[in-house]
Amino acid sequence: MEKLCTILILLLSFSISGLVVTTIAQPVNGEGPEAVEQWFKDLPNAKEKTTKLHFYFHDIVAGDNPSAVTVAKPNSTVVYLTNFGLVRVMDNQLTVGPEPDSKIIGRAQGIYASASMEEFGLLMTLNYVFTDGKYNGSTLTIVGHNPILNEYREMPIVGGSGVFRLARGVATAQTVWFNLTSQDAIVEYDVIVLHYDF
Ligand SMILES: *[C@@H]1O[C@H](CO)[C@@H](O)[C@H](O)[C@H]1NC(C)=O
Ligand SMILES: *[C@@H]1O[C@H](CO)[C@@H](O)[C@H](O)[C@H]1NC(C)=O
Ligand SMILES: *[C@@H]1O[C@H](CO)[C@@H](O)[C@H](O)[C@H]1NC(C)=O
Repeated sequence: MEKLCTILILLLSFSISGLVVTTIAQPVNGEGPEAVEQWFKDLPNAKEKTTKLHFYFHDIVAGDNPSAVTVAKPNSTVVYLTNFGLVRVMDNQLTVGPEPDSKIIGRAQGIYASASMEEFGLLMTLNYVFTDGKYNGSTLTIVGHNPILNEYREMPIVGGSGVFRLARGVATAQTVWFNLTSQDAIVEYDVIVLHYDF
């Protein structure tokens, strides 16, 4: 009887450790179509998680090394004070602090366009592409309205990849520095996202 118990306990602990090993070995954020499909299968067991991110966005238009370049500047930009019709493509640095030489944690890659005839209002369509730490390789996608003269601008986060698969959230922008002549700007971003964790 004692022997049987020992065997049972042994079997039980083996199967428990086997279980633990398989759980850890699951490709929770692996790459490729099979890993993504597995991730969706596992989704019912996932916990919804809130993550807050804080960084500074450097929109550098002027000088020898601009990270935001003008791709369209139609005549409407002369007619409208709001630069209506202007389109720029950016690959802007995202940094920990507001200083231009602060540690880089990712890039804001995308397009913004002056989409308002009556106010300074941009359409922002961009990805935050993270390059550091646990978010390295993950992205968040923003599509939003950015009335740049307002103190706070709220833009929807409509999705993400990697750690941020199926993310949704809100990014709040606040300009910390703006040079009217060069149009260079440094913008503080507070981001809050709901996403999944296993
Ligand atoms: C843009 O404005 C310039 C100067 O007024 C004019 O010569 C040109 O024809 C205009 N272009 C278009 C596409 O309207
Ligand atoms: C981010 O990931 C890339 C690709 O896997 C790797 O080459 C790079 O060293 C990583 N960067 C950091 C700061 O971890
Ligand atoms: C603002 O931009 C102009 C034009 O690039 C430049 O000459 C000037 O030094 C800038 N001002 C500051 C405070 O950086």
